[in-house]
Amino acid sequence: MAARMKLKLKTVFVLYFMVSLMGLVYALMQLGQRCDCTEHDMPKDRTISRLRGELHRFQEQIRKSEATKQPQKQPAKPTIFVITPTYARLVQKAELTRLSQTFLHVPQLHWIVVEDSPHKTPLVTDLLVKSGLAFTHLHMPTAKDRKLQEGDPSWLKPRGVEQRNEGLRWLREDRRAQPGGDNQQGVVYFADDDNTYSLQIFEEMRSTQRVSVWPVGLVGGMKYERPVVEEGKVVRFHTGWRPSRPFPMDMAGFAVSLKLVLANPEACFDGDAPMGFLESSFLQGLVTMDELEPKADNCSKVLVWHTRTEKPKMKREEALQAQGLGSDRAVEV
Ligand code: UGA
Ligand code: MN
Repeated sequence: MAARMKLKLKTVFVLYFMVSLMGLVYALMQLGQRCDCTEHDMPKDRTISRLRGELHRFQEQIRKSEATKQPQKQPAKPTIFVITPTYARLVQKAELTRLSQTFLHVPQLHWIVVEDSPHKTPLVTDLLVKSGLAFTHLHMPTAKDRKLQEGDPSWLKPRGVEQRNEGLRWLREDRRAQPGGDNQQGVVYFADDDNTYSLQIFEEMRSTQRVSVWPVGLVGGMKYERPVVEEGKVVRFHTGWRPSRPFPMDMAGFAVSLKLVLANPEACFDGDAPMGFLESSFLQGLVTMDELEPKADNCSKVLVWHTRTEKPKMKREEALQAQGLGSDRAVEV
């Protein structure tokens, strides 16, 4: 009896063990199986496709409203006419290259280049044609007795005078022939070929009504010269030399509206003006100090620099030339 009980218990135990083992094996097999998650994911999927639908509808609406929108009529920017005197020397092409590549970044700019030469040179002609800029190419030689001679100190005679006047002559003649006559939007700026111009200065001057002014860096033996502004008006000038001049400013420090230039057909630069009075000779008849329009944050920012390029030394070139070994003349520099 006891032996039968033992056998039964053993059987029950073995059966229990087998069932548990099968259960465990089944559970383990389920672990590796992919779950049929459709039921759990249904609400998420529905939300995604609803949002997709909405996004699509929005995109469609935006597209339609863009297509029907009338192109906004932007008022045309006034053209800036930049007058640059230039003369042949070793650094001329380098100066004009730098300048032209600055101007390429300025919208609505017309470059009037006036060569100090009895004829237009191939170097400048070629550079302008390839520049990608809107330009006018002129020439006007400086009279011999007015021209700086080799070895003269640079302050002895004014430079670029006849050239700027020739630029003004062309501009007045050309603009008169355009529709709108004397009443045209535009700005005139005199940009020497060796200075450094930030792009910002062109946007500052674009709104010139009569004459706008701003500081010029590295000029007149100073870190900068500038008009001094109080309550929005120019009241005097910060300059180290003869502040009593009518307009003690460098050429790079002002721009004039085209209307004012056209309304004053006689206004020009006086080559006989005493040293430092060239700018004043032009501005005197056009504007009073009280009317000047300060730019560059009330004349507190330097956006143009009166840089001057060192004259390159040619000692070795000359030595080689004497031996017939100079640089190839056919290579334009
Ligand atoms: C300073 C001013 O910044 C000039 O605007 C002003 O004309 C000059 O003084 C002056 O008092 O006449 P600075 O650097 O001394 O300028 O003069 P440059 O840069 O040598 O010449 C001014 C412009 O005239 C330049 O664009 C230059 O290419 C041109 N230039 C110079 C000529 O066309 N011919 C020349 O014989 C010399
Ligand atoms: Mn200069």
